Amino acid sequence: MSLIKYNNNSFDLYLKQAKEYENLGIDFFSCYKNEIEDCINCESTFKETFLNLLSMIQIKPEWNFMDCGSGLGLPIYLASSYFKKVYGVEIIEEIANISIKNLNILKVENFEVICSDINKIDDNILDTINVFYLFNPFINKIFEKFIVKIVNSIKRADRDVIIIYVNTIQENFLDKYIGNLFTIKSINDFRKINFYSHKRV
Ligand SMILES: C[S@@+](CC[C@H](N)C(=O)[O-])C[C@H]1O[C@@H](n2cnc3c(N)ncnc32)[C@H](O)[C@@H]1O
Repeated sequence: MSLIKYNNNSFDLYLKQAKEYENLGIDFFSCYKNEIEDCINCESTFKETFLNLLSMIQIKPEWNFMDCGSGLGLPIYLASSYFKKVYGVEIIEEIANISIKNLNILKVENFEVICSDINKIDDNILDTINVFYLFNPFINKIFEKFIVKIVNSIKRADRDVIIIYVNTIQENFLDKYIGNLFTIKSINDFRKINFYSHKRV
């Protein structure tokens, strides 16, 4: 598959933040177009936005985190200080490999990047995740199927779960499947962000 690298020059903040890391040989901010149906291009979350989102939830030390469509790994890196274990799931091997290189340079020890379609990940891992982060990574059937998988995972392994969904263009699927399992809170940062919270019964 051909990957096309591009610069998102409309966001000066990306370029500013990229400089913090480039001297270390870390690339968190390149953008990549892909040709996979319903798979959104690789663009990174702003560092400040992500840290702000984490500050809005009460993270327990035993919780695990998953970035669903993890790109170059910046959210995995930032989350690694707050969670017991941090996972990234990234469908494009070249991008997953860059993220692993980035995280190794930064000496992150509690991470695992899984190169896979999000809907093919093992239920044994899914059932241990407390915070799912989605920066508008995929749409339509892929998104719908994944939301159903999270709901089924809670029914199988009840636990505290928070879904952080940034740029909520597919929120109708959450409305359709979450029933009374979750409470919802919305905020507006540079995009609409929804927090879906389920407390262990
Ligand atoms: C908008 S980027 C977000 C990157 C990262 N989460 C962040 O916030 O910086 C979305 C990423 O999801 C990946 N992706 C898209 N569809 C996927 C799928 N079905 N399974 C796993 N990863 C997927 C894309 O390749 C891309 O790297």
